Amino acid sequence: MARIAIFASGNGSNFEVLAQHFEGSSDSDIVLMVCDRQKARVRERARRFNIPELLVNYVKEDPVTVEERILGALQASAIDVIFLAGYMRIFNGGFLKKLTIPMINIHPSLLPKYKGINSIARAFEAGDKEIGITIHHVVEEIDSGTVILQKSVKLEQKKGLEYVENEVHKLEHIWYPRVARQICDEINANIKKEK
Ligand code: GRF
Repeated sequence: MARIAIFASGNGSNFEVLAQHFEGSSDSDIVLMVCDRQKARVRERARRFNIPELLVNYVKEDPVTVEERILGALQASAIDVIFLAGYMRIFNGGFLKKLTIPMINIHPSLLPKYKGINSIARAFEAGDKEIGITIHHVVEEIDSGTVILQKSVKLEQKKGLEYVENEVHKLEHIWYPRVARQICDEINANIKKEK
């Protein structure tokens, strides 16, 4: 059984499609949602799916203490893989070195273009002809890990930024669950081999 943790800070639409995808799955389970914002909408979504939450606070505690708390929770829940879904924090190298499981992120640009925040708006303003998403491994340098999958769509400038944002989110919602499923299948195959 692949045990999944999702980290999110905001709306949580990617969390929601992942939760829907794995709901009732017999071999993979989302067992933890880590959030760093008290008012994030994703928290209500996690409650709806009965997924336990770890709420952390980078204001009241220093990042290293928060990261230790997260590592403890990952261990306690025997997590096999982490999917970041709009988690707006950067992990320090020490945390990533201690992490012995894969951490995957989804980014709304065709990396290496537009690393960091406001990627869709930057692509739109630059007048790019296409726009897309990248699902990649997380390394210390932001949005720079090995690419697992990229998908693109025509950027229709005339339709406006909101339309373009929606197109990108549509791609995310189609492809993140598929990639997550594939990764969990690989984890389950390895678990079987080890038995
Ligand atoms: C997505 O665009 C994702 O690519 C980025 O953060 C956004 C999160 O959106 N990393 P949501 O909270 O899943 O709706």
